[in-house]
Amino acid sequence: MKRKKQNKRKIIFLLLILLAIIFLIILYMRKEKNMPDNYSNEAKEKLKKENIDIKEYNQTLEAFLKSDDFKKENIEAYMQINFQNEEDFTAKTNALLEKNYSPDEINDIFTYLSKANIQKLLEMDYVNLQDYLKISNLDVSKIDAYKEYEQKNNTTINDAVTKVNLHLDEPFYENVETIEKPDDITVLVNKFHALDASYVPTDLTNVGTYSLQMRKEAAEELEQLIAKAALDNRELIPYSTYRSYDYQKRLYEGYLEIDPKETVDTYSARPGHSEHQTGLACDIRSSILNDRLTDSDYEWMLQNSYEFGFIVRYPKGKSEVTGYMEEPWHIRYIGKEHAKKVHDLDITYDEYYDLYIANH
Ligand code: DAL
Ligand code: ZN
Repeated sequence: MKRKKQNKRKIIFLLLILLAIIFLIILYMRKEKNMPDNYSNEAKEKLKKENIDIKEYNQTLEAFLKSDDFKKENIEAYMQINFQNEEDFTAKTNALLEKNYSPDEINDIFTYLSKANIQKLLEMDYVNLQDYLKISNLDVSKIDAYKEYEQKNNTTINDAVTKVNLHLDEPFYENVETIEKPDDITVLVNKFHALDASYVPTDLTNVGTYSLQMRKEAAEELEQLIAKAALDNRELIPYSTYRSYDYQKRLYEGYLEIDPKETVDTYSARPGHSEHQTGLACDIRSSILNDRLTDSDYEWMLQNSYEFGFIVRYPKGKSEVTGYMEEPWHIRYIGKEHAKKVHDLDITYDEYYDLYIANH
């Protein structure tokens, strides 16, 4: 009897323990359920440690919890910032928050700005980027200059960006940069970008039977262009192509004996600044009877040269950008794809270069 009673007690005791265990398991599971499902163990640990009760999963928060950059006071902001799979995302985000960028602004920054621009932003005080975000050739470090140019010249933001990038808010020949890749077919040579005095292209070749040299690709296309013009009953004759640095120097100095410097600078490049040194430019005239191109041949050139990879480099009405008076006779080889785009967009090569080639 006594034994039976003891057994019964034992069973009840065991049942109670079992119930307690079940109760604890249920409690634990419920607690787990309240925790976000997808957080990593590492992130969960941090949430527990910091005593944070977050219900929903957030990838940005997860990234912060797993990094050394987590700051409890920024949680609300983290939850509104879209996760970016890029290096130092958490450190960059914290830095932007510290500069008082809002979560929305930070999302825009990561969506629209290049890595280089984001890097620059991190080294600057807060700037309102609203009007600039979608401009492809934006350089955030120049925003003040853009604003000034836009107001002074009563122009659009996009125009101001391109013009300032091209240094057109500064006098010509100031802040000259030496060109790093002079062999690029798309090289930009102008009053702010100079070729080294020692630069000579390595693949210079004669243009047809002329004793004039250009880079191989350009020489071959120029022959094709002249042949096409002949089919259209036009006689085009190249007369100045590759010019060495020293030759350009003598030329420029010769002009200085005739005209004042300000005038010479409107029609002749200073040594190092001439496209002729690239072996990609050609001055061309209409038949032996003309010094330059006739209006009709100029018109033909504007409409046809792009098919052979050439553009008219110093068009009418663009002196403020190019720094030179109109030169119908000066064509420049940049390759067919780009030449077609320059033709279709009807912009100067300087502008095209900044919009579509530099930093792309
Ligand atoms: N006449 C052009 C600008 C040159 O000298 O290269
Ligand atoms: Zn020329």
